[in-house]
Amino acid sequence: MIETADAVQARGLLPALGALLVDAVEQGASVNFLAGFDQAAAEAFWHSQLNGMVSGATRLLVVRDGGRLQGCVLLFLAHQPNAPFRAEIGKMIVHSAARRRDLGRILLSTAEALAASLGRTLLLLDTETGSAGGALYRAEAWVEYGRVPGHALRPNGRPAETTMFYKRLAPAIRQG
Ligand SMILES: CC(C)(COP(=O)(O)OP(=O)(O)OC[C@H]1O[C@@H](n2cnc3c(N)ncnc32)[C@H](O)[C@@H]1OP(=O)(O)O)[C@@H](O)C(=O)NCCC(=O)NCCS
Repeated sequence: MIETADAVQARGLLPALGALLVDAVEQGASVNFLAGFDQAAAEAFWHSQLNGMVSGATRLLVVRDGGRLQGCVLLFLAHQPNAPFRAEIGKMIVHSAARRRDLGRILLSTAEALAASLGRTLLLLDTETGSAGGALYRAEAWVEYGRVPGHALRPNGRPAETTMFYKRLAPAIRQG
């Protein structure tokens, strides 16, 4: 049900990934875009991520249910030489018709396991204060480390506060 998608697979998934992002914005999620964001702009966003997937700096996980793409998450590996242990989570999205069925939890824990397997033991992310994402991260033992009032605009153009979270992971045990 959950799988990693490389750049070639992601290219084939552009329409479905775009639809997922448009749905999130239409539902009011603060995921960098404003109301009126359309399928073409959403696919352009995903297209802009392909180079990172080719280099391996960006990892994409997707979850399908009944053949339909129902969720996704991106893992961005820090490129700075002094942070080879760090990564960020982004575009953690479950389709509005498939929420509260544990798909978000499964995507997040799989992204964490992938990060640990790559030696990335410090994860960071941020989300709108009071959002479903914030509830998910707290439920999964992420630690809040700060809030910035007026950090980003909601899709409706109103400024909203952002909460920053981190999570430390145990290093994955390497086989062999
Ligand atoms: C955040 C999001 C990915 C959660 O996905 P999901 O599949 O619905 O989450 P899950 O079913 O795995 O929820 C796991 C736990 O998170 C918490 N949670 C998730 N959504 C919640 C909500 N709307 N209200 C309160 N708690 C919530 C609960 O503790 C839940 O456990 P429970 O259902 O047993 O109570 C989804 O709401 C989403 O795509 N939102 C829009 C995009 C977005 O804002 N992403 C975050 C940006 S950083």
